[in-house]
This record gives sequence, structure tokens and C-alpha cells, in this order.
Amino acid sequence: MKILITGGAGFMGSNMIHYLLRQYQDVQIVNLDLLTYAGNLESLTDIADDPRYQFVKGDIADPRVLDQVVPGVDLIINYAAETHVDRSILDARAFVQTNVNGVHELLEAVRRHGTPRFVHISTDEVFGAVMEGESTEQSKFEPRSPYAASKAAGDHLCHAYAVTYDVPVIVTHSVNYYGPHQFPEKLIPLFTMNLLEGKKVPVYGDGMQVREWIFTEDHCRAIDLIAQKGRLGEVYNIGTGYRVPNIEITKKLFVLTGRDESAIDYVADRRGHDRRYALNADKLRTELGWEPQIAFDHGLAKTVEWYQTCGEWVNHCRTGAYKEYYEKQYINRV
Ligand code: DAU
Repeated sequence: MKILITGGAGFMGSNMIHYLLRQYQDVQIVNLDLLTYAGNLESLTDIADDPRYQFVKGDIADPRVLDQVVPGVDLIINYAAETHVDRSILDARAFVQTNVNGVHELLEAVRRHGTPRFVHISTDEVFGAVMEGESTEQSKFEPRSPYAASKAAGDHLCHAYAVTYDVPVIVTHSVNYYGPHQFPEKLIPLFTMNLLEGKKVPVYGDGMQVREWIFTEDHCRAIDLIAQKGRLGEVYNIGTGYRVPNIEITKKLFVLTGRDESAIDYVADRRGHDRRYALNADKLRTELGWEPQIAFDHGLAKTVEWYQTCGEWVNHCRTGAYKEYYEKQYINRV
């Protein structure tokens, strides 16, 4: 089985590569990644010499690159994306390029080369804020950030290509994931690192926005199952039902890092900040028998422990581009 993982140097992609190499002896993996600011090959040093693994630096939006890596592949899992909402608010260009044009090029490559299966990773944010109840696979798209709009456009292209050209695509919508190797711009790794380094944590608005959380390993299992047994042309939500306000997560991190509430900096809210997400994952549970296995408190403790010991990995994240972005972002808010 030959699998192309796009965005494999990022958080979810690198975790999936590790997962697949652990699970399957006879797998061949090609990792296509552009190595933008969020890609970190340090996440893959332990398997870099594994004969079942190959890295290719390149862009999913470049058809010439795709013509080199797609032929002969049995499955493509598209993790490549610009993912950070705050960045999309500052400048959405890269988001349109990768999340819309990139997905379009991948779909075209799947058509050209007759790839049997294509799993596209998307987000619950395409459904917009859900003040009560849950988003199902049938809910209307109401993206409210440039990031969410770019992901929604990519999802629409997947649907259109399935209907028009019978492209064998499955779209997944996931809640917020967390775990080792996540770039420290997202809530959990950013706050963890700040707390471990004795800094403050910027809580947006009143901190009562609700997110639903899934540990990376549970997400990998869900994607593996969907890739093997999911029905082509279908959409699957991936969620755990574990929904909490950001301030609760922040307090849990205080306990794990030995800090307290004096570390909170309440800063201006994110523009257009979605108040609550909640995903209905009944289809994945009933149709494919998936259940999350990692309790949030356990996953969070493992995550904090990893950031305490990640050594060299973190230095890569402290390059000029990250520092510049983080300072601009944070200073603008206070
Ligand atoms: O819901 C799935 C989505 O989760 C993914 O599609 C996105 O790619 C991913 O970035 C994530 O989006 P969020 O905006 O929910 O994640 P983020 O970690 O940026 O923020 C989580 C919550 O924490 C959100 O309500 C904003 C808040 N927050 C975030 C940061 C970075 C803060 O209060 N302070 C912060 O410094």
C-alpha cells in the first residue's frame, strides 16, 4: 500500500505518518510538504531513515510536483493547509492559495492519475458558530473567518468533483486537535510553552468561547478507519463530544505547569470570533465503530509533558518568522 501524505511535516500529518508506520509493516509513505513556517522536519527525525518513508519538498498547488508524486499511489490523505485563524485575519492570500487552489490541483491530479482514494481533512469551522445543538454532516456551511471560508471552498470543490467526475474523495470535518508536535501558535501549545517559560497567556475576550477537543492519536485512528472503510463521496464528522470553554483549558494548564491565574492576560477578542463549535459524530461511531480512547485530562498531561522535554524541536519554532508574527499579533491585541 503506497500512501501520499501531504503536509506531513505539520502537526497532524507527522503524527499520522508515525501512526501508519507503527500500525503497518508493508506500507510505503511519501510525505509531500512545502515546509512553510509550521512544517518541522524535526518531528520526523526518528523515522527519516526508515526505508518505508520518503520526503519530497513541494507544493500541492503545483501540478508538476503532483505529476511526480501521485502516480502509483493507492491513497492520498490531504493534511496540507494553512490552518491558523488569526493569520488568516492578518492576510488570507496563502489560505486561498493552499486551501482552495491546492485542493483543486490535488483533485485534478487524482483525476489524471486515477488514484483510487483521496481523503481530505477539513474542519468544523466551515459550519460557523453553533450556539446550541450540534453540526451534522448535512448542516449548512456558514464560514465566518477567511480561514474557514477557504476550507469551505476546498470542501465544495471535493463535493463538486465527486459529483461531476466521480473523483473518489471523502471529506472529514474535525474538531480542535491537540497533542505533541503542534506548532505553538494554537491555544494549547502556545499557552503551555508560555506557562513553562514563566510568561503570561493571552486569553481572547472573556475566555468563555467553547471548543471541542480530540487527542491526535484518536484522530489518526479515525482517519485510518475512514480511509479504509469510509464510503466514497461521503462526509464524516470527527468529534469527541468533549466541549469546554477556553478558560477551563487554561486553568487545567495552570495545574499541570504549577502556575496560577495571575498568568492570565485578558486581551482584545479575535475579530468575528466564533463563540461555540459542536460536532455530531454519530455517523462515524455507528457506521465505522470509532470511539475516542484518550480522556482529555490524560491527553493534556501527555502533551504538557512532551513540551517539557521536546528540546531541539522547539528551537525550530523560534525562527524569525514565528517571532515576528507572534509579537505583532500579541502586541496588537494588548
Ligand atoms: O475547530 C477546528 C479548528 O481548530 C481547525 O480547523 C483550525 O485549523 C485550528 O487552528 C483550530 O482553530 P481555533 O481558532 O479554534 O484554534 P486556536 O488554537 O487558534 O484557538 C482556540 C481557542 O482559543 C479559540 O476560541 C481562540 C482562543 N485563543 C487562541 C489563542 C491562540 C485564545 O484565547 N488566545 C490565544 O492566544
